[in-house]
Amino acid sequence: MMEYITLKNSDIKVSRICMGGCPMGQYGWGDVQEQELLDTVNVAIENGVNFFDTADTYGLGKSEETLAKALGEKRQDVVIATKFGVRVENGKTFYDNSPAYIEKALTDSLRRLKTDYIDVYQIHYRDGVTPIGDVVDALEKYKAKGYIRSYGLSNIYEEDLNELKSFSGKFVSMQDEFSLACRKNEFELTDLAKQLLLTPMTWGSLGQGVLTGKYDINASFGSNDRRSREIYVNFHGEKFRKNLEIVEKMRPIAENHNVPVSAVALRFILDYLKDSVVLVGAKRPSQILGNIAATDWCLTDDEIKELDLISK
Ligand SMILES: NC(=O)c1ccc[n+]([C@@H]2O[C@H](COP(=O)([O-])OP(=O)(O)OC[C@H]3O[C@@H](n4cnc5c(N)ncnc54)[C@H](OP(=O)(O)O)[C@@H]3O)[C@@H](O)[C@H]2O)c1
Repeated sequence: MMEYITLKNSDIKVSRICMGGCPMGQYGWGDVQEQELLDTVNVAIENGVNFFDTADTYGLGKSEETLAKALGEKRQDVVIATKFGVRVENGKTFYDNSPAYIEKALTDSLRRLKTDYIDVYQIHYRDGVTPIGDVVDALEKYKAKGYIRSYGLSNIYEEDLNELKSFSGKFVSMQDEFSLACRKNEFELTDLAKQLLLTPMTWGSLGQGVLTGKYDINASFGSNDRRSREIYVNFHGEKFRKNLEIVEKMRPIAENHNVPVSAVALRFILDYLKDSVVLVGAKRPSQILGNIAATDWCLTDDEIKELDLISK
C-alpha cells in the first residue's frame, strides 16, 4: 500500500513516492518510448502514486506536455509539481527568477500542462540576483489568483539559509539531491528543512539509476544519454566503483524483504528522512512498479545502520 504525507504549510496530500519527469522530457536520458511513458503514468496512478514532478526545462517543455497527455481527465486526481527559473535561449542556459519571467514561465507551463492551476510551483535554481522577497511576492500574487496552490524550493544549500529564514512557513517543499550514492545534502534535507518548516524531497534518489543493481563496471551510455558525461559522477571512476559496492550490500537486504534492489535504495530514504518525499524517474511500467515496492515495509535498524555507514 502506498504511504502518503501532507506537504507542510498546506492541505496537499501526496504519495511519498513521486514520479519524476526527467525521462518524460525524452531528451538526454537515452532511449525512451512515449507510449511506455504514458503507460507508466497510468500504472503509477493505479498503484497509489498521486504526485508527479516535472519542470519547464525538461526536454524544453516536452516533459510537461507528455505528463498532460498521460493524465488527461485524471489531472484533477493528482498533484503536479513543476519548476521555473532555468531559461534556455539561443542555445544558452541561464537562471532567471525575475517577476517578469515568472509570469511568462507560468503562462507557458499552464498551457503545456493543459491545466488551470499548478499544485506546487518550484523555484528550480536561485538566480543570484532577484531578491527572494520579490519572488515570494510574485508567487503570492499567483496563489491569490488561483494559478498556483503553493510554492516550493529546489537546489537550496546551507549558505542560502540567511536569505530564506524570514520566509520560513511560506514554502511547502524543497528538493535536493540525496541517495545512498549522494549524502552531501543531508544538512539541507534535515536541519534546514526543519528551520524553513517545509517538506524535504530527494532527487536522483536512485543515483540516476546506478542503485538499481542492473549496472556493472562495464556500463556505457550512448551520446543521447547525459550519464556518458563525467559530470554524472555516479557512473564514473572511483565513485562508480563505490556505488557498485553499495549495490552489493543491498542485494541480500533486497532478498530478505523480497523486493527489488531499487526498492531498498528508496526505502533507505523513506526510513532515514522520515517526513520526506522521494522523487524517482521511471521510463516504463516495470520500473515504477519496482520503485513502488519501496512502500509499506521498513528496513530494520541494523540494515539502516549498515547502509548508512557504507554510503557515508
Ligand atoms: N530539482 C532538480 O534540480 C532536479 C534534478 C534532477 C532530477 N529532479 C527530479 O527528480 C526525479 C528523479 O531523479 P532522476 O530521474 O534524475 O534520477 P533517479 O530517479 O535517481 O534515476 C532514474 C533512472 O533510473 C532508472 N530506473 C528507475 N527506476 C528503475 C527500476 N525500478 N529498475 C531499473 N532502473 C530504474 C531509469 O533509467 P535507466 O533505465 O536508463 O537506467 C530512470 O530514468 C527526476 O525525474 C526529476 O523529477 C530534480
